[in-house]
Amino acid sequence: MADYRPVTAEIVEALRGIAGERYVLYDDPERMAAYAHDEVAGEEYAHMPDVVVKPDSALEIADILRLANRERIPVTPRGAGSGLSGGAVPVYGGILLSLERMNRILEIDRENMVAVVEPGVITNEINEQVQQYGLFYAGYPMSVESCFVGGNVAENAGGGRAIKYGVTGRYVLGLEVVLPTGEIVQLGGKRVKDVTGYDLVRLMVGSEGTLGIFSQIILRLLPLPAARAVLLVPFADVPTAIAAVPEIMTLGHLLPASVEFMDRLSVATAYDFLGESPPHPDIGAMLLIEVDGYSQEQVEAEFGAVAELCLEAGALDVYVGNTADTERRMWRPRQNVAEAFKAISPVQSLEDVVVPLAQIPALVQELERISAQYGVLIPCYGHAGDGNLHATPVKRPEMSMEEWQATLPELLSELYSAVARLGGTISGEHGVGSKRAAYLPLVMDPVLISLQRRIKQAFDPLNILNPGKIFPG
Ligand code: LAC
Ligand code: ZN
Repeated sequence: MADYRPVTAEIVEALRGIAGERYVLYDDPERMAAYAHDEVAGEEYAHMPDVVVKPDSALEIADILRLANRERIPVTPRGAGSGLSGGAVPVYGGILLSLERMNRILEIDRENMVAVVEPGVITNEINEQVQQYGLFYAGYPMSVESCFVGGNVAENAGGGRAIKYGVTGRYVLGLEVVLPTGEIVQLGGKRVKDVTGYDLVRLMVGSEGTLGIFSQIILRLLPLPAARAVLLVPFADVPTAIAAVPEIMTLGHLLPASVEFMDRLSVATAYDFLGESPPHPDIGAMLLIEVDGYSQEQVEAEFGAVAELCLEAGALDVYVGNTADTERRMWRPRQNVAEAFKAISPVQSLEDVVVPLAQIPALVQELERISAQYGVLIPCYGHAGDGNLHATPVKRPEMSMEEWQATLPELLSELYSAVARLGGTISGEHGVGSKRAAYLPLVMDPVLISLQRRIKQAFDPLNILNPGKIFPG
């Protein structure tokens, strides 16, 4: 499959002609190393590009893709590199196409409640810019302060508010896409409804950079909630914490904006990383629940009800944060937990399996079983409201690297098979990328894999765009 041609001096010259001398990195391993990996821990997942190019327009992207087709060079698009599936790693080398310069918010259209943005905008910036108009962008990946919105769309990122607001795709009304063959097309538009032809916007969302490169994104905005509050709720153990989640929604008749979960080890590791002590000495599991609404009274009533239901469900205590400062402090351990585990053990495998909500306790039991069977710690945290859990096998210090490398694929196969038995799948928000491609057949019918390969071929006949992703080799 990898009959690609090498990047020659002529190709580098051609890229300089397209994007400008300053925006091509070549023969500069020090600066290019940053483009060899995403946030997946482990050098074995990284690969150096042969050349990095930073275009500034759809036309430049189109020229690069036409060149790549003519010369049979792989092209890997990249946002902020905050992904967790190797999606932006140039596994076949070739051209790394960074969207970092395309970082403009082109339009905030208040009347239509949409924003038109380029892919390299940092997601959080959208909210900073639209709130003055009473508007709100509901996408909320955990890396909101560093990730690019283009990557969020490419991965259909989920994150901390998906239980109420859904995932990124719900807010993508339109896309300008440069197809792998170099044509530029407009999909969708500033319209909430559109059933004209196949829903290609939906196909592009979550396509992991394999079907096209977004040059503009039209995002739907919502009215900005006037108030929010966060509850930090410690429990003695995981089953009690998880059992509280449906109670809050069904008995409380309310839908929190977030219901995040951390197990004992995640709590200890995150607080330790931040140099703080956990809020309670006996935390076996913790929920972080956010409620938001269009009036202060509504939010107060909601967090009162949530607090009461949590205590009835067996919470050890409830702490409420309803100032910007306390909210930020309460979110920090959860936002930093992935970073915290990477700091203590860079040898790990951060997963984002997803199961139907009611299967979370069964999944946690499976994790305990697999952890005992392989002698590997598997701390777990994530989006309890979505059934999307970051089970993270972590190498113990006493285990050799050889043993870890031999164990991990078996352990992951066991984990993914358990998830499939519970009606779940291998990735709820980070994508398959290169990291999980070999495991796709564990959870997907061969007929569906073959159908998706044919879709890929229709878009990208020479397979130059982001090869080595999603599909097993
Ligand atoms: C999180 C990232 C890892 O939820 O998805 O923290
Ligand atoms: Zn997550």
